[in-house]
Amino acid sequence: MKIFVTRKIPGDHLEKLKKEGFEVAISEFNRVITTEGLLEGIKGVDAILSLLTDKIDGDVMDAAGPQLKLISNYAVGFDNIDIEAATKRGIIVCNTPSDEVNEAVAEHTWALILALARRIVEADEATRRGAYRGWEPDIFLGTNLIGKTLGVVGLGRIGSMVARRAQGYKMNVLYTKNSPDPDAERELGVKFASLDELLANSDFVSLHVPLTAETRHMMDKDTFAKMKKGSYLINTARGQVVDERALVDALASAQIAGAALDVFDNEPNISPEIIADQKVITTPHIASATREARDKMGEQAVAAIIDTLKGVKPQNIVDEKVWDIRRK
Ligand code: DGY
Repeated sequence: MKIFVTRKIPGDHLEKLKKEGFEVAISEFNRVITTEGLLEGIKGVDAILSLLTDKIDGDVMDAAGPQLKLISNYAVGFDNIDIEAATKRGIIVCNTPSDEVNEAVAEHTWALILALARRIVEADEATRRGAYRGWEPDIFLGTNLIGKTLGVVGLGRIGSMVARRAQGYKMNVLYTKNSPDPDAERELGVKFASLDELLANSDFVSLHVPLTAETRHMMDKDTFAKMKKGSYLINTARGQVVDERALVDALASAQIAGAALDVFDNEPNISPEIIADQKVITTPHIASATREARDKMGEQAVAAIIDTLKGVKPQNIVDEKVWDIRRK
């Protein structure tokens, strides 16, 4: 059985594939694989270990050949893969959700909320530049979190972990979800709201929805206009949930006071206005970049390949119904 890995991943989990006797090829370049490289590498393989930077559509699947059984995506998000096209072809797609990844993303979200509230990045930059002249009453005034409202857009696994941490800061939490979640409300002290209500009443809005046709550019000109004046936006979900042009305008007009972004509309490109804006904190899609999370992702991505190629149902199949119609 042949496996193609589109880029080397941290840890030694790939070794397990070799120990199972599989023929493993790993892209030799430590960068996002080119389309040509991908099409060449996947020819004749039984499984692909892909990254969220690899676009895999029906044509790519067909280029691999009819023996392709599995795409094991080293990510929680799977918007880089055409799931419908995979299911139609009987190809299993697995992802890597785990507490380790979810906690890492929730912790990064909080690092960004705190950094925004207390202007940590601006203050650090000014101090290093030699601008610190001694204590002053009015430099880098930020905002307390206690008593403020956090809006969690998408109370799934990561959103819940973000909401739980808000209790420690004594914040009020509003959330959106397909329908109210009484258990979460009891456990986390959160309050269900429509997106409009949440945007109008939150001091910090944190996005935790997957990228789908419905959520693409969910934050656009209209939704930014509904945000509470002077509030903050945090995005550790997917860049395309936010229309970056509309974000630039919302910042320029002071409709919102700032933003913290781990993901971008057109990665790795970022609007020059965002880069130049002191009110924005940027990190390069590292919300899940902890050793613990990446190790778990590697473990799960490899386990899915071993299980599937041995005929065992793997964990974390994105579209469960494919199992009964899977390629053998
Ligand atoms: C994911 O897993 O989807 C993150 O964006 C990267 O780990």
